[in-house]
Amino acid sequence: MLSQKNNRLYLENVSLEKLAGEYGTPLFVYSKNTILGNFNSFLKPFAPGKELICYALKANSNYSILKTLSGAGAGVDITSGGELYRAMRAGFKPSKTVYAGIGKTYEEIEYALKNNILMFNVESLEEIEAVNKAAGRLGRKAPVAFRVNPHIDPHTHHYITTGTAGVKFGIPFAEALDAYKTASKLKNIEIVGIHSHIGSQITSTKPFKMAAQRISGIVKKLAGAGIHLKYVDLGGGLGITYSNEKPPTPYELKKSVVPIFKGLDVSFIFEPGRSIIGNAGVLLAGVIYRKKAGGKNFLVVDTGMNDLLRPTLYEAFHDIVPAAGASRPRVKLDVVGPICETGDFLGKNRMIPWLNQGECLAVKCAGAYGYAMSSQYNSRARAAEVMVDGNKYSLIRRRETYKDLVALEK
Ligand SMILES: Cc1ncc(COP(=O)(O)O)c(C=O)c1O
Repeated sequence: MLSQKNNRLYLENVSLEKLAGEYGTPLFVYSKNTILGNFNSFLKPFAPGKELICYALKANSNYSILKTLSGAGAGVDITSGGELYRAMRAGFKPSKTVYAGIGKTYEEIEYALKNNILMFNVESLEEIEAVNKAAGRLGRKAPVAFRVNPHIDPHTHHYITTGTAGVKFGIPFAEALDAYKTASKLKNIEIVGIHSHIGSQITSTKPFKMAAQRISGIVKKLAGAGIHLKYVDLGGGLGITYSNEKPPTPYELKKSVVPIFKGLDVSFIFEPGRSIIGNAGVLLAGVIYRKKAGGKNFLVVDTGMNDLLRPTLYEAFHDIVPAAGASRPRVKLDVVGPICETGDFLGKNRMIPWLNQGECLAVKCAGAYGYAMSSQYNSRARAAEVMVDGNKYSLIRRRETYKDLVALEK
């Protein structure tokens, strides 16, 4: 929903330069209608009446964004007690909540049980013991799926690869049947599903298909052993276009995996995060200084790895464009942040106009794993967040202050 009008960049019908002037930078700006459009494209059913879309809250957990999605009927995928708290506060129904994560504490398990979530995606045998114990203590049965690691390489960055052998996630698929058999003997466990999430920013249907084949094999074997599953949760991971990737649409993803379960009476759960919120957000950065050093040009901006860690952590590419005056001649330059780390950059060797001090750049596709992974490193107060809806806009999280930096210290 980004467009150029009169040499100015707009998100929906609001000028980003205007927002930077009004709220200051760094500033995250989100398009409400892009979020809803992305979510709606996931709603197009392949298996009508048998699908639940659970937004992966970790991608961006701002209350207004969560409210927008819970209001549109989304379920939610959580990974901690804190995420459950945020989800319920924003109106997500516990009956549409799935809970993954390899390190759920006993307290977190109890909290989720007391709130009657749809299913625990359990990642180890010790965890299922803990869930069984907590459920027994509360006098109820815990609905569980095992997260199964199908040992499929999704061909994405190794830090966001979660479904290969040797990573910490899930139960290795060769051990899955035994895990289910063990779980079926536990008094306070109700086996309801199976879960798999193989990684993030996946841009082809192939690895999803291969994982689904492994998972459906397990579902069939379990049925043969008298363990009938209600839910097949195929996780998230659908990629977006940061530069020239051409990821499948949500419908193409479903079309590639759902038929693999033909003949099995199961409902499907998908857990998209990035593909709902990633391209809906930009990070606005103000130019502090221009600098030439070592034969290179640098635009030093007021945001960096503290607000958007992805370039530093994964060498991720984010397109960067001026919020106004993009038609000026371009030079090759690096966009770098103010943090005292050489790894603190937003973009390297980019062709961008040699902006003036005080001008503003927009870092595109910063909606997912941007604010959510931000920090106060170098004692930098976190950015503000704004949501745009047509020609309206509002502040959805205020900028942190120096007082906020020290507020919890004794
Ligand atoms: C279990 C689980 N589900 C869903 C997601 C969301 O993934 P994505 O944002 O790539 O859709 C993640 C993210 O890593 C995850 O760990």
